[in-house]
Amino acid sequence: MGYKKLNEIDLSNKSVLLRLDLNAPIENGTVTNQERIIRSLPTLNYIIESGARLLIMSHLGRPEENGMLQQNFSLAPVVKELEQLLNRRIPLYSLDELESLEHASNLLVIENTRFNIGEKTNDINLSKRLASLGDVFVMDAFATSHRAHASTTGVITCSDEACAGLLLDEELNALTKVKEDSKGSVAILGGAKISSKLSLIDSLSNSMEKVILGGGIANTCIAAMGVEVGKSLIEESMLSEAKELLKNPKIIIPDSVVVSEDPNRPGRVTSVNSINQNEAIFDIAPNSLIDIEPIIKNAGTILWNGPIGFFEKDNFDKGTIQIAKMIISSKAFSVAGGGDTISAADKAGVLDQLDYVSTAGGAFLEFMEGKELPAIEALRNKAN
Ligand code: 3PG
Repeated sequence: MGYKKLNEIDLSNKSVLLRLDLNAPIENGTVTNQERIIRSLPTLNYIIESGARLLIMSHLGRPEENGMLQQNFSLAPVVKELEQLLNRRIPLYSLDELESLEHASNLLVIENTRFNIGEKTNDINLSKRLASLGDVFVMDAFATSHRAHASTTGVITCSDEACAGLLLDEELNALTKVKEDSKGSVAILGGAKISSKLSLIDSLSNSMEKVILGGGIANTCIAAMGVEVGKSLIEESMLSEAKELLKNPKIIIPDSVVVSEDPNRPGRVTSVNSINQNEAIFDIAPNSLIDIEPIIKNAGTILWNGPIGFFEKDNFDKGTIQIAKMIISSKAFSVAGGGDTISAADKAGVLDQLDYVSTAGGAFLEFMEGKELPAIEALRNKAN
């Protein structure tokens, strides 16, 4: 991959500064999904077992960048989880506090990097301050590697030695595999907005053999065909782009759907040509699933991002659940990514059976679009 890896560096008796993405959902001071924390454990344990001193940093949410502790964005709830998982006490310091300490613990967490002025502008002075905290910098926050921030990118440039962590390397290997194995490759893209995924659709419809669209993205394409879509969720401003997509024979949209006048009431199955003015599309219908099944079954690699229908509502989760089940029954190497996708895979009960589930949202999409991720680029530059 062109960057240094963790096992290429002797960590014993060194101070290691580790950037993780511990941006976990928190409700009433408690972490509600531990996935990112758990997926960071292999790197954490590797460094701890190597005998190094370990300083962990991460962002959490999007606080004001004003140099002040904002309690609702504190990493304290995440540290609590880490303490339980590692079965030891872990102190949490602000950057200023840490710099004023004479002796700090061998394992500690630094408060939310986004409290520090200069984080988002990738300020060189902040980057230097961070880099000076460790002998080695380890970047394992793949989910934040699309941000050119001081704690993700600047710090790499300013560190004496920098390498990729185990999760970042694992993510890049899985995502590269699905991106580069073009034979029998199928992308399944759902979600609400075509505008947020247009460049992804464009890029994947070049590199992959088939691109199946669902959700609001497909609705906008159906509307672009000139048929009545009633009150369906569509993006008027994207109709001409959607019309262009329809010309590409690799793009597949459903021709039969489940509609309803009210998302809280059961739907009816209809062809996309017979939707009433008062109805909205909420799911893909069984006939279209039958058409899609052989494509998924015979795929070599599958990339899945975004729910295919209004899966949060039990009346309209069947399409997403069926597609999730088709993915895991296929022999294809399957990769899923993006927050809603993970919730959908979880509801379908397939989360553990996918070949790889990315911890990233925005970074996953940008990588699959073919964009260079600044932190990965910085790691490669450092190695050269
Ligand atoms: C994410 O949740 O996608 C990452 O933690 C990045 O967060 P951000 O979009 O606030 O930069």
